[in-house]
Amino acid sequence: MKLNFGQPSLGGRIEVPGDKSISHRSIMFGALANGKTVIRHFLKGEDCLSTIDCFRKLGVEIEETDEEIIVHGTGWDGLKEPSSILDTGNSGTTTRLMLGILAGLPFHSVMIGDESIARRPMDRVTVPLASMGADIAGRDNGRFTPLSIRGSKLKTIEYRLPVASAQVKSAVIFAALQAEGESVIIEPEATRDHTEKMIEQFGGIVRREGDRIIIKGGQSFKGTDVYVPGDISSAAFFMVAAAIAPDSEIVLLNTGLNETRTGIVDVFKQMGADMTIEKTSFKGEEIGTITVRTSKLKGTEISGALIPRLIDEIPVIALLATQAEGETIIRDAEELKVKETNRIDTVVDELKKLGADIEATDDGMIIRGKSKLHGGSVSSHGDHRIGMVMAIAALIADGEVKLENPEAIAVSYPEFFEHVNQLIK
Ligand code: S3P
Repeated sequence: MKLNFGQPSLGGRIEVPGDKSISHRSIMFGALANGKTVIRHFLKGEDCLSTIDCFRKLGVEIEETDEEIIVHGTGWDGLKEPSSILDTGNSGTTTRLMLGILAGLPFHSVMIGDESIARRPMDRVTVPLASMGADIAGRDNGRFTPLSIRGSKLKTIEYRLPVASAQVKSAVIFAALQAEGESVIIEPEATRDHTEKMIEQFGGIVRREGDRIIIKGGQSFKGTDVYVPGDISSAAFFMVAAAIAPDSEIVLLNTGLNETRTGIVDVFKQMGADMTIEKTSFKGEEIGTITVRTSKLKGTEISGALIPRLIDEIPVIALLATQAEGETIIRDAEELKVKETNRIDTVVDELKKLGADIEATDDGMIIRGKSKLHGGSVSSHGDHRIGMVMAIAALIADGEVKLENPEAIAVSYPEFFEHVNQLIK
């Protein structure tokens, strides 16, 4: 795809698509609940469609209209042994969370994903699940897909998360919900808490005591209505675009502002961005309007507890940092190496091709600004977020950017280019 925007100003109001993490979970809880769940503003990106597909194979009726997704929940007991392989596509969230669900169900299933999923570590989930009694086999001792799950009776667990991962936490929570008694998950660093919030939304109970999350097994859920807020991880691309393009102002409506996800807002403040946030409503998840204008930015340091709160936004923050005066240092972000691609390498390599002064470190990157970006040939490497970073970089680049494999963007933001074109003044 050839991107030759001519360094435009940006302006206007958009609503980014629904939150990916919340969309996945709304299907999962909707299926596990008894009765009907109606989901509005669901993200119809490829990842979340993979979750729908898997639950259909487990016997759940799911209706799709333009406005809503309707899940006819079967309850835990109503899920059926699938007669074909569950294909999770590019979705780590589907793969890992489904493992926690399938581990305790009384049947056999097989899971597979795409090439990127085949490289991503699954032992971070299969190891704690095995200690709860799960019977999961897979390539390289259960480290990678394809995986085969023979559902079994699960025991409770007290588990300290060795990595700050909401996917691991959520998989263990789903397994704990099926064990007899109370499980405790200790989370040294807070990660996104959509699973915990959704347990409550579907009529269940979860307790939080400091860094301990306490889950009682044997809970059943009731179908409900879910409104999925706009995904702040998608909004992030246009927050950055507005901050770095000339004479720009973008308003992002109905964006999720869950505290465990708003690390990027903190970074915008640290870097001196011109931004206002207005909280508009609250139903299960916080929602608000984010307005960002062209900004004079300064470099910053991003590390520690902030990292899990902006892990998916680091690639686009790297682009932002190329347009800030001074140095930006990102540390403690090794987890980037096991995302859809090794995002330390892919973002550094691709931004360099457009003239950024950026260097990879063992656990993050160092970016020196401010650089003038130029045209060039870049690739998404099949990673949706890398594809979007490069498209936003193209908005400010002097010259044409050729983007290879832009189709990957449909994983989380099918309307991305429509929105880009809508915002060009
Ligand atoms: C997600 C958790 C994060 C995030 C991913 C979605 C989730 O992954 O990067 O995009 O929905 O729970 P990790 O759990 O691997 O940190």
